[in-house]
Amino acid sequence: MKNFLLGLSALFLAFVPPGLAHTAPSSITFSPLLYPGPVDVQFTSSPSAADGPRVFPINATTFDWWYFDAVSDDGTQAVTIIFFTSSYIGFSFNPTSAIDPLNIYVFANFPNGTSTSFPVPATSVTITTDGNGATGEWTGTGIGFQGAADLSTYNVTFDNALLGLSGSISLASRGPGHYYCGPLEAGLDEQVLSNIGWANVMPAADAVVDLTLSGQPLKFNGNGYHDKNWGDTPFTSALQSWYWGHATFGDYNIVFFDMVDAAGEEKVGGYALLNGEVIGSTCTTGMVIRPVGTPYPPTQSTALPTQLTINMTLNDGSTLSAVVTKVATQIDIKLYTRWIGTIKGTVHGVTQSGSSVWEQFAVNP
Ligand SMILES: *[C@@H]1O[C@H](CO)[C@@H](O)[C@H](O)[C@H]1NC(C)=O
Ligand SMILES: *[C@@H]1O[C@H](CO)[C@@H](O)[C@H](O)[C@H]1NC(C)=O
Ligand SMILES: *[C@@H]1O[C@H](CO)[C@@H](O)[C@H](O)[C@H]1NC(C)=O
Ligand SMILES: *[C@@H]1O[C@H](CO)[C@@H](O)[C@H](O)[C@H]1NC(C)=O
Repeated sequence: MKNFLLGLSALFLAFVPPGLAHTAPSSITFSPLLYPGPVDVQFTSSPSAADGPRVFPINATTFDWWYFDAVSDDGTQAVTIIFFTSSYIGFSFNPTSAIDPLNIYVFANFPNGTSTSFPVPATSVTITTDGNGATGEWTGTGIGFQGAADLSTYNVTFDNALLGLSGSISLASRGPGHYYCGPLEAGLDEQVLSNIGWANVMPAADAVVDLTLSGQPLKFNGNGYHDKNWGDTPFTSALQSWYWGHATFGDYNIVFFDMVDAAGEEKVGGYALLNGEVIGSTCTTGMVIRPVGTPYPPTQSTALPTQLTINMTLNDGSTLSAVVTKVATQIDIKLYTRWIGTIKGTVHGVTQSGSSVWEQFAVNP
């Protein structure tokens, strides 16, 4: 009880109302025991703490996670790491959460085309929020992340001799973060769909990956990304399908969403940076994502697409059109698939190539 009260006061500091912004870092510690009842879930942005926890404590139907990835410039190598404080009913795609809601999932694609993925359970989690950045310790894993208060850099560090894990993923931001419908400011609705929050504090980053995973080296430079999602009801009850991804081509970086909500309504989102300046941002219209050669929207019985087309209207009215093409699958569990690959993107008649990470949730049978 003492820890819970301490945690609540820390939470209050992290969620200070507008006008009371503070600079002292605040910490919250999570227990793996699910709280038996309603908990605090935040869906309105604060003046700071953009990457802070939104659910405290956790209960049997909530989820919260911190997602990081990096893909090589040629789209052949990648690593994704997700830090969970999520119940199994809240986010049923991660079976480890049924045993331990505090866990980390690591996914990697090696240059020879093979992939690996594995969970690492934690005994407790402490998140320290400083400015808009957060630092996370998943106790007992040897894996953690450290974020700068101004969101300029994030590092994910690995040090677990027993599992053969060492090294780091170092991310240096290429442009401002954002919520679904606006910049990282106070008072915005953070929901990307009803009951699902999203904060994208690092839409694109220079990534330096220098890791050893299960004793195998994974080293490359490329394109990085970091966001977080959370929710107060089971994830699968909030949507029918979604495509999400991020990509880099030339000096462009994009983040793209196309979702079908629980009621069957299509929702889109798009964010585009050119040399670090926001040149496109939408949460209403002006973004169309479609699979090539397979039906839309995807269901569990439709074939998996190897390509998506992306058409986005930029803030100046011009069009960004792109196609992502799979090089490798990172994870495929039928309801959920994540790919890595290449992108060809065209703006103002100029076509450039780059790399991408994207995913599909298909909840309907
Ligand atoms: C968990 O908390 C949420 C948000 O307060 C609430 O809606 C939900 O009913 C709670 N779940 C359980 C199992 O108590
Ligand atoms: C991440 O690592 C880089 C390179 O070592 C360093 O410059 C930066 O300060 C680190 N960022 C944080 C938040 O620790
Ligand atoms: C591919 O590379 C990984 C990582 O180094 C290694 O574990 C695996 O055995 C390799 N597979 C093949 C078929 O060469
Ligand atoms: C959408 O993007 C695809 C892939 O780049 C392109 O072939 C197509 O012409 C675009 N459609 C529109 C209407 O811009």
